[in-house]
Amino acid sequence: MTPLLEVDGLKKHFPIRKGFFSRASGSVYAVDGVSFSIGRGETLGLVGESGCGKSTVGRTVLRLLEPTQGTIKVAGQDITQLDSQDLLPYRRRLQMIYQDPYASLNPRMTAGEIVGEPLLVHDLGAPEERKERVAALFERVGLRPEAVNAYPHEFSGGQRQRIGIARALSLKPELIVGDEPVSALDVSIQAQIINLLMDLQDEFKLSYLFVAHDLAVVEHISHRVAVMYLGRIVEMTDKRSLFEMPLHPYSEALLSAVPIPKSSARGRKRVILTGDVPSPINPPSGCHFHTRCPYAMPRCKTEVPALREVIPGHLASCHLHDGGVRSPLAAAS
Ligand SMILES: Nc1ncnc2c1ncn2[C@@H]1O[C@H](COP(=O)(O)OP(=O)(O)OP(=O)(O)O)[C@@H](O)[C@H]1O
Ligand SMILES: [Mg+2]
Repeated sequence: MTPLLEVDGLKKHFPIRKGFFSRASGSVYAVDGVSFSIGRGETLGLVGESGCGKSTVGRTVLRLLEPTQGTIKVAGQDITQLDSQDLLPYRRRLQMIYQDPYASLNPRMTAGEIVGEPLLVHDLGAPEERKERVAALFERVGLRPEAVNAYPHEFSGGQRQRIGIARALSLKPELIVGDEPVSALDVSIQAQIINLLMDLQDEFKLSYLFVAHDLAVVEHISHRVAVMYLGRIVEMTDKRSLFEMPLHPYSEALLSAVPIPKSSARGRKRVILTGDVPSPINPPSGCHFHTRCPYAMPRCKTEVPALREVIPGHLASCHLHDGGVRSPLAAAS
């Protein structure tokens, strides 16, 4: 079956301009050749440190940013070059929920107006029908009916995120990009919102691209996980394989930071990353991770490792596995 979303070789480079009138003097290689697909009803978790390009992937996939290179297909249709008119139906099918539901909700609109606005913009339904739809959405996301008349500042963080979710759902989308939708919330509230998103996924067969900077957050909700480092995906597989046998040293390091003790992780040594993420303006040669990798070999400085299927269904880009599978842990011992 055709996946709902197919992204191939996606690049997004931001030109750097010194002065207002000057020509570009370089680029931020925010997303530098990313490929993945998401099936209907599937969640792909996208994780990586701050600045690795996660939000840029999400925004480019929704065509909120123009891709520099690569293709984006929705249900087999290439939407990469569509003009704003032809893109309109896709704007309905693809929605976004944001990290900070406070900053993303208009403080001068009531919650009901916020949730109903997309219906108004797309001219869907008579006023009465819109009102009913908004009421149904409030109920579905667990907000009290009378909350339609309250303003964003009157809600808690978790409730505000429910408003954001109701708004995203209003146009009956097929894919929702969640850009760190629970990162700003307390842990107990995070679980409630994640459970709500999972229930909604079951009910509406939604696909999610779920962005987070730590693996613990994506573990519950994701079917598959893609790990990003400096604009590239370095590992991608189903959640279980990633947690049981990470193949990329960077994923191994991210997993070390997950506090939940995993039976499969018993005895695994902790890999603490030193140093900051290098700048995407001037990324390291070869494997971008070689400057921080505890297992770096001379060739890692010069040869870019391809993202390839190291074991069936498990993709990684690391020279450690060129002669067969070696878990980073085994390599160290
Ligand atoms: N509009 C822009 N113009 C120039 N550079 C940008 C722009 N947007 C993002 N960047 C740069 O692109 C890189 C990737 O940014 P992005 O926001 O996608 O990262 P992220 O993984 O979402 O990080 P975080 O976890 O902090 O949200 C960063 O170096 C960022 O500074
Ligand atoms: Mg981000």
